[in-house]
Amino acid sequence: MEAALAGHEAVVSGLPDPLILVSADGRITGANPAARELCAADPAGRDLAAVLRHPALLAAVDEVLTSAAQRVVEFDTPGGVPRHFAARIARLPAPTRDGTVAIIALHDLTALKRAEQMRADFIANASHELRTPLTSLLGFIETLRGPAREDAAARERFLTVMYEQAARMSRLVEDLLSLSRIELHEHTPPHGRADVADLVRRVTGMLELQARRKAMRFVIELPDLPPVAGDPDELIHVFQNLLDNAIKYGRAGTEIRITGKPAAPGSAGARRLGRAGVIVAVHDQGEGIEPKHLPRLTERFYRVDTARSRQLGGTGLGLAIVKHILNRHRGVLDIESTPGRGSVFTVYLPAATPARENPVPRPGNARRGRAASS
Ligand SMILES: Nc1ncnc2c1ncn2[C@@H]1O[C@H](COP(=O)(O)OP(=O)(O)OP(=O)(O)O)[C@@H](O)[C@H]1O
Ligand SMILES: [Mg+2]
Repeated sequence: MEAALAGHEAVVSGLPDPLILVSADGRITGANPAARELCAADPAGRDLAAVLRHPALLAAVDEVLTSAAQRVVEFDTPGGVPRHFAARIARLPAPTRDGTVAIIALHDLTALKRAEQMRADFIANASHELRTPLTSLLGFIETLRGPAREDAAARERFLTVMYEQAARMSRLVEDLLSLSRIELHEHTPPHGRADVADLVRRVTGMLELQARRKAMRFVIELPDLPPVAGDPDELIHVFQNLLDNAIKYGRAGTEIRITGKPAAPGSAGARRLGRAGVIVAVHDQGEGIEPKHLPRLTERFYRVDTARSRQLGGTGLGLAIVKHILNRHRGVLDIESTPGRGSVFTVYLPAATPARENPVPRPGNARRGRAASS
């Protein structure tokens, strides 16, 4: 390396991308620290074919060693965490004193490829989710214009289904829009203050009818909590999604408990947040979730049982929205679940900085106690 790139060692060593030098017979004559890290040892002196065993890469190196001036190839490294590299192999204008004739510069494209894949998956998922109700709508319209033209009973039935499908598409578009809106502001922390107990009460009020249809009831066990730093409208969405899931995936006739406590300075909760805050948990008695699904639940469109979630009217975006809102609020979501018994979704939110201009008004009934609604 020294001989090959005399005077430039500091530059070459400092390069974040792996750089490997090879001689005319395919031996490694030098490697910078990034390349040494990639090979897990200093590969100098070894045969390139023994160090990087990728047919496409080796073929390209051969071409450069025999005739070509330059080649670019992409390849994957095997292993538990595969990485994707682009390699640029270039012949030096003249061999150096230590016999180096070509230089291989590697560039790690793993993150870029992953982002590309995520974007492609997202578009494929969103299109698929829209196409399903759209296909069914088109089918019904065809039938109504043709065979069922004069059939009043069928028309009524079909219109009901068509309405449901159109509502589903509309919900999906709404969810996609709110997700992109939240992502757009994700790096600007919210300005307002919110009283979490008040928000929870508002949401349980909105969802009471839905819960009652499954003979479920909310049991709110919230003590006085300090106000949190946050946008009340966005935080309402967090609890709306969590409570909606608790109803949808909870067993009929059971209770949904909402508990809370302050995350006092120095407590485990405050350590989780990096500062003092508030912890609110939604406990359901439902089917629960297998541990293998837990890390992926907040991904867009991820569902444990897609057909079932669709049938319940879900788009699979609810928890992705929750995660992004909490990210913006510098909050955290924890999910614990016991299959067959139920799940607990815990939200950690940072407390508002003390007593600023507009304190949050506390409704008279927002005091300690069980405010069950059934
Ligand atoms: N309380 C829960 N109990 C059991 N499974 C749950 C619970 N909450 C979420 N899940 C699982 O996580 C998946 C993702 O939840 P998410 O809220 O993102 O989507 P969804 O409820 O299917 O649709 P949407 O919320 O968009 O209407 C659900 O499909 C379900 O499989
Ligand atoms: Mg949901």
